[in-house]
Amino acid sequence: MKDKDVDRNTPQMNAGEGGTAFGPSAQDGNCTEEIKGSTAAIFGWIGGKRLLRDRIGEFVPEQDKPLKSREIKYFVEVFGGVAWMLLSKPRWFEYEIYNDANGELVNLFNVMKYHPRELWKEFRLMPDSEAMFEHFKTNKPITDVQRAAACYIKYAHSFSARGDTYAFKPNSMTVLQRKIIALARRLNKVSITNESYEQIIRRYNRPNVFLYLDPPYYGCEDLYDVTITPDDHEKLRDLLRGFSGKWALSYNDHPAIRELYRDFRIETISTRYSALGIEKGKQVDELLVLNY
Ligand SMILES: C[S@@+](CC[C@H](N)C(=O)[O-])C[C@H]1O[C@@H](n2cnc3c(N)ncnc32)[C@H](O)[C@@H]1O
Repeated sequence: MKDKDVDRNTPQMNAGEGGTAFGPSAQDGNCTEEIKGSTAAIFGWIGGKRLLRDRIGEFVPEQDKPLKSREIKYFVEVFGGVAWMLLSKPRWFEYEIYNDANGELVNLFNVMKYHPRELWKEFRLMPDSEAMFEHFKTNKPITDVQRAAACYIKYAHSFSARGDTYAFKPNSMTVLQRKIIALARRLNKVSITNESYEQIIRRYNRPNVFLYLDPPYYGCEDLYDVTITPDDHEKLRDLLRGFSGKWALSYNDHPAIRELYRDFRIETISTRYSALGIEKGKQVDELLVLNY
């Protein structure tokens, strides 16, 4: 199994047991290796931006200027999910913040950043079987590393990453190890937070901040374990109206969203599935609302 995204930014390494395969890692503070290209997310996520990340990335301001001379200093991914946008470049702005309201997902990000070796060791003890999937439905893991591994099993091995029904997926332990290493490196300088969008938007309300927002789709708010209510769409619009930095907001193409954001620039973003299979060539469309 070959994972192109990971291959591009993961050096040659010994994929054997123990810590050595991990080399200098983020939490050692001596991770000097330059990261290139994009990093693959740990697993797929419902509404994840894997296919649209490059098109959306074309709208992020100041990417043609050197990092230090950009007016924008902060990239904040407000509804982070598995962070396809954040991970699609080695660095967007000088400071980067990943946020999601789902505490289990955020714990997984923290453990990938600070304890990648321990996470890997945990996986080596866990068969990714249906029995393990069912086990975590009733037995709560105790340590943060166990919680992170359980979170992986729950979402990576369920239909549409919904976490409720087991779905068999071919799994390569080598690819998983390389993904964790690449993610630990990429997250090295990323701040990870677990808050609701209101707090994050209020906290970063400054002219030198860029927000990327990918809320649950309009009319599909119940797809996530932690989510928003239908009223939140209007609340979000009001908060964004008063935001002093720049923002880009992804949504499904729904008349209610076009109406809510009628005073803003709205782009239709499309891509086509490129993988082999019956869906190859199928078009995916979304809205991108911008305040610039
Ligand atoms: C469409 S997904 C984001 C997908 C992400 N862009 C990606 O590519 O993986 C929406 C995310 O919003 C998160 N979320 C739900 N309610 C939230 C809230 N009130 N504040 C922040 N995040 C929230 C969900 O946990 C979910 O991960």
